[in-house]
Amino acid sequence: MTRTLACFALGFAACADTPDQPVASVDSGGLEELELPEIWGFDSLEDHDPDPDVVEVHLEAAVAEMLWAGEDDETEVWAYNGQVPGPLIQLWEGQTLRVVLDNELPDDTTTTIHWHGLRISDEMDGMPHIQDPVASGEQFVYEFTPPDTGTYWYHPHVRSYEQVERGLQGALIVHEADAPEVAADRMFVIDDVYLRNGGAMYPFNLSHMEQMHGRSGNLLMANGQAVTGDIGEPLSDEVQSGTVERWRVVNTANARTMYLDVTGASWRVIAVDGTLLPEPYEAERVVLPVGRRFDLEVIPDAAEDDTATLRVLLADGAGGFSEYPVFEGAVAGSEPAADWLSWPSEALPATTTDVDQDVTLRFNNQSGDNGDVEWTINGEVYGDHDPIEVDADTPSTIRIVERSGAEHPFHLHGQFFQVLEVDGEAPGPEHSGLMDTVLLEGDGNVLIYTDFDNPGRWMAHCHILAHAELGMMTEMVVD
Ligand code: C2O
Ligand code: CU
Repeated sequence: MTRTLACFALGFAACADTPDQPVASVDSGGLEELELPEIWGFDSLEDHDPDPDVVEVHLEAAVAEMLWAGEDDETEVWAYNGQVPGPLIQLWEGQTLRVVLDNELPDDTTTTIHWHGLRISDEMDGMPHIQDPVASGEQFVYEFTPPDTGTYWYHPHVRSYEQVERGLQGALIVHEADAPEVAADRMFVIDDVYLRNGGAMYPFNLSHMEQMHGRSGNLLMANGQAVTGDIGEPLSDEVQSGTVERWRVVNTANARTMYLDVTGASWRVIAVDGTLLPEPYEAERVVLPVGRRFDLEVIPDAAEDDTATLRVLLADGAGGFSEYPVFEGAVAGSEPAADWLSWPSEALPATTTDVDQDVTLRFNNQSGDNGDVEWTINGEVYGDHDPIEVDADTPSTIRIVERSGAEHPFHLHGQFFQVLEVDGEAPGPEHSGLMDTVLLEGDGNVLIYTDFDNPGRWMAHCHILAHAELGMMTEMVVD
């Protein structure tokens, strides 16, 4: 709490500038120094294991207090290591990550950590039906070697609609050994929280509104700082003209689809959900559904603007957008613009619609006994249907069909997929790359391709966490 309040009082930059501890520095027997890059926006986390192949970090989940809504308005949160978002976890490709989780949450609160997007073993995936949830006062050690590089995130998979909203969420980066050097590598965790006057969170009893649409916040947050509201202001730093930066963005909100753009800079999308794209693309704006990550390559352009600004655009309900600056980079210098860098992407695996197995998932809602909303997959809520069995290492499609008129960010654990069709049409560049989450529009349908190359028992669900809680989850058994 002291740390949080001190950071708050000093402003974000003061916190971000505290000297970093090397995360994985190795100094033994002539081994190469393995210091991790400095990521703007987050302090480094201590590596407790001297083995150069292992990064061991410690997370303690516990209650903390934040000042988000006003100078005196304390918000009680659930935080990893006293921070919301939790610490940035980072490692090099090929390294093993060990995370020691201590649950110090209030009595009777069990929790797990799910590593969103990482294709690891299902035993480490944080699923409460595979791993016994960690009881309050207990510890669990996660250990795995991520097979892919890129930007990911982590969050509990027990009562997620409550635990993620209370603050249990954080970013994770697996660094490419051969990525080009950038002037700054920045991480932005974008969230919204729903606070009462005075700062308290609303109760987690799923009002009818939340059952239908999930919980949307009234305060927009970036890296744990309110960017709207009484004391909100954008994050800020200096950026250099004539340089190239990498901006990584994740939407950790409970429900709200956001949009992104950058002003005062040339920018393009270089990675999605963890994979560098063979063909980076420029866009007017990027759709950022909950759960997804985009890495942007940004070249500040002093001639056009005095700040290079990352903006979140939120649909205003009338067909337009409200624009919220979440990061303002004051441009220094007047060097001519740099060129795009060349990124070490690999060709995407081949896809086909001529597959050996296909699965159809119909997304809908119905009203349950007592009038509560139930969100269903193929007509049933989670727990009422048998797992879907599929063969591993087999070219496969999944058709996801929406029947209720509501949108759903569909997330598949343990596998990557590629989008083949959106509403019967070939997808645009915004659906390119290996993805783990795709936005299904109301009444829309999406056809995706996967090889199911990671055997195990995997959840597939809507990432609007209230929908998932109310049934919109299924299990796929890959054998
Ligand atoms: Cu990000 Cu099943 O979750
Ligand atoms: Cu949904």
